[in-house]
Amino acid sequence: MSHSLKVPTVLVLGSTGQIGQLIVKKLKDRTDVKVRVTSRRRAEYEQLKSKGIDIAYLDLDRAETFAAALAGVDRVFLITGYSVAMLTQSKVLIDSAKKAGVQHIVHLGIFGEWDCTDPHFAWHQLIESYMKTSGMKWTNLHPNMFMENVLAFFAPKNGKFTTYWGDQRMGWVAGQDIATVAAQVLLEGPEKHSSKDYWMSTEVLDASGIAAILTEVLGQDIKGEVKSHQDFKAVFIGGSVAVEDWYAEGAIEFTRQVSNGEMGYIGTIRNDVPFITGEAALTFRQWAMIHKKELAQAAK
Ligand SMILES: NC(=O)c1ccc[n+]([C@@H]2O[C@H](COP(=O)([O-])OP(=O)(O)OC[C@H]3O[C@@H](n4cnc5c(N)ncnc54)[C@H](OP(=O)(O)O)[C@@H]3O)[C@@H](O)[C@H]2O)c1
Repeated sequence: MSHSLKVPTVLVLGSTGQIGQLIVKKLKDRTDVKVRVTSRRRAEYEQLKSKGIDIAYLDLDRAETFAAALAGVDRVFLITGYSVAMLTQSKVLIDSAKKAGVQHIVHLGIFGEWDCTDPHFAWHQLIESYMKTSGMKWTNLHPNMFMENVLAFFAPKNGKFTTYWGDQRMGWVAGQDIATVAAQVLLEGPEKHSSKDYWMSTEVLDASGIAAILTEVLGQDIKGEVKSHQDFKAVFIGGSVAVEDWYAEGAIEFTRQVSNGEMGYIGTIRNDVPFITGEAALTFRQWAMIHKKELAQAAK
């Protein structure tokens, strides 16, 4: 009896974003999967296509773009942007993937307890619940706060590193580790990773702990500063990462609940990274060393 030698095709959504980009880097030269990237921008799509890259035009707000993108796809990495639109986008994408014969969906969600009330956490949990009823194989990734936020929302400025959740400790994970876990799951597929939840909160630090590491790595005095959750709104306006209003409100509610101690688990370690990758997760100090230049630029 002959076994199929077909190499699985993996569709990576959000492949221009922070996490998706890193996943594509890890998978693009592999011979044991075929990677298809996506773009919702015509010019970018045409440009990458002309270079021979397997790219699909896919706009999560336009369901009519899904079928062609999903044709022949075996595994999907489902990531959405910072928007409440993730609900409809994911529901329709999951339905379409099922119709297209996709076998495995890997979803990037949040680090939340099952009964949490913060809106943007609840949206991700609704997507996870819906995915589980789809009949397709699923894997859920649960990262805590991205270390990359220290290059964006929480970039050090004027000698200060500012947090908005009181003096509580926060769990962090490097985007690089999230991407390595996601890539490994997409490579090994549903036989190994179906019906699994992987948790990624690899180090806990408060504002002064982060400030001390930044001070040491940058060789420049950075002080930890704690502001109120109400001050957090200003962080989204004109920031480097696009955040829609409802999501921003959810993130403010998140910081309120963390400061109150209602989400105490957010400051705990739950580290599945080495179980999937065989390597220790990056520490915040290691991550800061890698991003020293960008951090120094921001801190000026
Ligand atoms: N930051 C954190 O600490 C944290 C923690 C846990 C979970 N998360 C979750 O992580 C996710 C965001 O990940 P990220 O930081 O990698 O996001 P990101 O850098 O903002 O990238 C979002 C990606 O999604 C694409 N996208 C957005 N809207 C789209 C649409 N309508 N159609 C097609 N593609 C679309 C973007 O494409 P364009 O290039 O065209 O814009 C981009 O490639 C969110 O679901 C968030 O809840 C974040």
